[in-house]
Amino acid sequence: MIRNIFLINLTLALGLGGAALVQASSTDEAMLQLEAIMADDERRQASYAAGHERIRFCGYCHGEDGNSKRDYIPNLATQHPQYLFEQFEKFGDGRREDLVMTTLANSLSLQERIDIAVYYSQQTANPRPGGDPALAAVGEPIYQRSCAFCHGENAEGFRNMPRLAGQPAVYMETALKRFRQMNPQQDNSPMIGVAKALSDSDISAVATYLQGR
Ligand code: HEC
Ligand code: HEC
Repeated sequence: MIRNIFLINLTLALGLGGAALVQASSTDEAMLQLEAIMADDERRQASYAAGHERIRFCGYCHGEDGNSKRDYIPNLATQHPQYLFEQFEKFGDGRREDLVMTTLANSLSLQERIDIAVYYSQQTANPRPGGDPALAAVGEPIYQRSCAFCHGENAEGFRNMPRLAGQPAVYMETALKRFRQMNPQQDNSPMIGVAKALSDSDISAVATYLQGR
C-alpha cells in the first residue's frame, strides 16, 4: 500500500530532518502574506521554487503536478492558494482529520505551507475521464441548481470556495457524505446544510458530473 510505504518514509524523514514545528501565529496574517506573494511576480516565483523543493512527499499521492494518483485523493492543481492553505491549517489544528495529512501539516513551517500552496495553485488540473455519461447528465442540473452559486458555473471555484472541476468522484463522494454527517453545532461550514439536502444518488450523480468537467 502506498500509504504504508509513505508513512515509513515520513517517519524517517521527520526523524532525520528535524523539520521545524511551527504553528501559524495567525491564519489571517498568513492569508495576507499569501495574497501579497500572489500579487507580486518576483515573490510568487521565489515562493513557487521553494514550494517545489518541499513537495516530494506530497507528490507520491497528489502528483508532482497536483493531479492525484488515486481516486480517494484530491487534486491540488489549479486549486486556489487560499483554499489549499486553509485546508492545510485545518489538518494541523484538528478541524480536519487524516493521519498522513495531520502529520505533514504539523511538520512544515508556516513559510513552507505558504510556498506549497503557491506551487500547487499554479499547476494545471487535467480532465479526469471515466464517469458514466448518463449519470453525469443527471448530476448537471443538480450542480447548476444547488452548487454553481458558490463553486462557479464551471466549477472553477473562487478563493476559499474550492474548484471541483476534475476532482475524482470517489473523493468528492466521501467529502460530501462527511459533510452530511457533521453536526452544525460543532462544525461551521456552509457545506453541512448543502449536503444534508442530498440523497446518495444525488451525490453520486453530481460527483460524476464534476469529475468529467
Ligand atoms: C499518503 C498520501 C498523501 C500524502 C503523501 C499527502 N497527502 Fe494531502 N491528502 C491525502 C488525502 C487522502 C487527502 C484527503 C483527506 C480527507 O479525506 O480529508 C488529502 C488532502 C489534502 C488537502 C485538502 C485538499 C482538498 O481538496 O480539500 C491538501 C491541501 C493536501 N492534502 C495537501 C498536501 C500536501 C501539501 C502534502 C505534502 C506536504 C500532502 N498533501 C501529502 C493524501 C496525501
Ligand atoms: C454557500 C456556498 C456553497 C454551496 C451552495 C455549495 N458549496 Fe461546496 N463548499 C463550499 C465551501 C466554502 C467549501 C470549503 C469547505 C468548507 O469551508 O467547509 C466547499 C467544499 C466542497 C467540497 C469539498 C471539496 C474538497 O476539495 O475537499 C465539495 C466536494 C463540495 N463543496 C461540493 C458541493 C456540491 C456538490 C454542492 C451542491 C450540491 C455544493 N458544494 C454547494 C461552499 C458551498
